Amino acid sequence: MEQYVIKGGQPLVGEVEIGGAKNAALAILAAAIMTDDTVVVENIPDVNDINVLLDAIGGIGASVKRIDRHTVQINAKSIRNFNVEYDYIKKIRASYYLLGALLGKYNHAEVALPGGCNIGSRPIDQHLKGFRRLGAEIEIEHGKVIAEAENFKGSHIYFDVVTVGATINVMMAATMAEGLTILENVAKEPHVVDVANFLNSMGANIRGAGTDVIKIRGVKRLHGTQYSVIPDQIEAGTFMYAAAATKGDITVLNVIPKHLEATIAKLLDIGCEVEEFDDAVRVISKGNLKNTQVKTLPYPGFPTDMQPQMGVILSLCNGTSTITESIFENRFKYLAELERMGAKVKVDGNSATIQGVEKLSGARINALDLRAGAALCVAGLTAEGYTIVDDIVYIQRGYENFEEKLRSLGAAIQKVSSEKEIQKFKLKVG
Ligand code: EPZ
Repeated sequence: MEQYVIKGGQPLVGEVEIGGAKNAALAILAAAIMTDDTVVVENIPDVNDINVLLDAIGGIGASVKRIDRHTVQINAKSIRNFNVEYDYIKKIRASYYLLGALLGKYNHAEVALPGGCNIGSRPIDQHLKGFRRLGAEIEIEHGKVIAEAENFKGSHIYFDVVTVGATINVMMAATMAEGLTILENVAKEPHVVDVANFLNSMGANIRGAGTDVIKIRGVKRLHGTQYSVIPDQIEAGTFMYAAAATKGDITVLNVIPKHLEATIAKLLDIGCEVEEFDDAVRVISKGNLKNTQVKTLPYPGFPTDMQPQMGVILSLCNGTSTITESIFENRFKYLAELERMGAKVKVDGNSATIQGVEKLSGARINALDLRAGAALCVAGLTAEGYTIVDDIVYIQRGYENFEEKLRSLGAAIQKVSSEKEIQKFKLKVG
């Protein structure tokens, strides 16, 4: 299994180009099958999750042509099979967006039920509630969702939980349901807005994405489009937080600062300097950061996908900080890995208390999941000595060229797959 070996202690300095938003691209690529015309999607990140979803879209019979690393052309005219196998869902949960897309266009879909994952049980009851309200018959058989809709009609749907996935999935399906659909208590993340803009560029009639109420007037058909995905606010935040953790000076390029407001606010709270430009943000940290309190919330609140990265910084801030994780029930596992590096943490249910320490020390740790893995690499970059991160396949699911981008900022990090390569790295960096 591949690992990262890191030698910490070097402040990260420089500029880094941010790629397209993984969580917008996944939904947009699924929605691309809702027309028989050709769709071109640009600025997609070249990461494992995207590539698995493109395999799943090809697997049901659509033609998928990679124009370049970040551009794909999809034509769904040849789809004959509305059955998305468990193998794809097991690899990435977001294949469930094909449920909304197939149901909306063909009024039929069979998609394997996603299981839980490392950060929580992650049910899809709100997705299914929305589809039923639109008139779909939903059966769960042999671990599969079988959805059939004789007549798919608009409805008034109030989500019991603010959920990004269900908001996007039901909005997608309702795009081609007859009449008016009103969605309330919806997620307002930038990627929800991006999917709505993408569907509208295909001739959909969606209003209010990004607010508390989304109104959709169903259309009979959608047409082709060429669309560019928004920048990834979590990739940007991860590098911004790496500047804070390593007492560095990093400018993230090709971002939308508006999407980073909560992420930036916390950097200012702890004493970092932040400079905002039209499509870039610069973060400078001289160290000596101070403690703060963080609670993860749906957008525009502090993003749960930035919680592990925040935890790493707080482990090095003066004083005692607290984090409350209000979105997922099991998203503190990385703190046990951080403790092995010398952090002083105490977890109590969905809140964690972190007592800042002078420095962390390198250790052998596990990535655990996508965002925890990236955060623990940042911890290794601040730590004294060497850190080995196992199971980096999690990180490669959502970060393109992660170690190359870090190296361009001065990080001593290398992807390795043997003890011999680790020794070689240690000899090289000394
Ligand atoms: C999306 O997951 C993202 N994934 C997650 O990012 C992100 O953490 C999450 O939104 C919150 O922002 C993708 O977009 C592919 P939710 P999603 O539905 O849609 C509960 C990453 O690191 N819930 O907003 O699955 C659920 O259990 C990943 O890129 C229900 O109860 O998240 C959770 O507690 C990790 N019933 C809460 O809502 C449902 O039907 C929020 O989940 C659906 C969700």
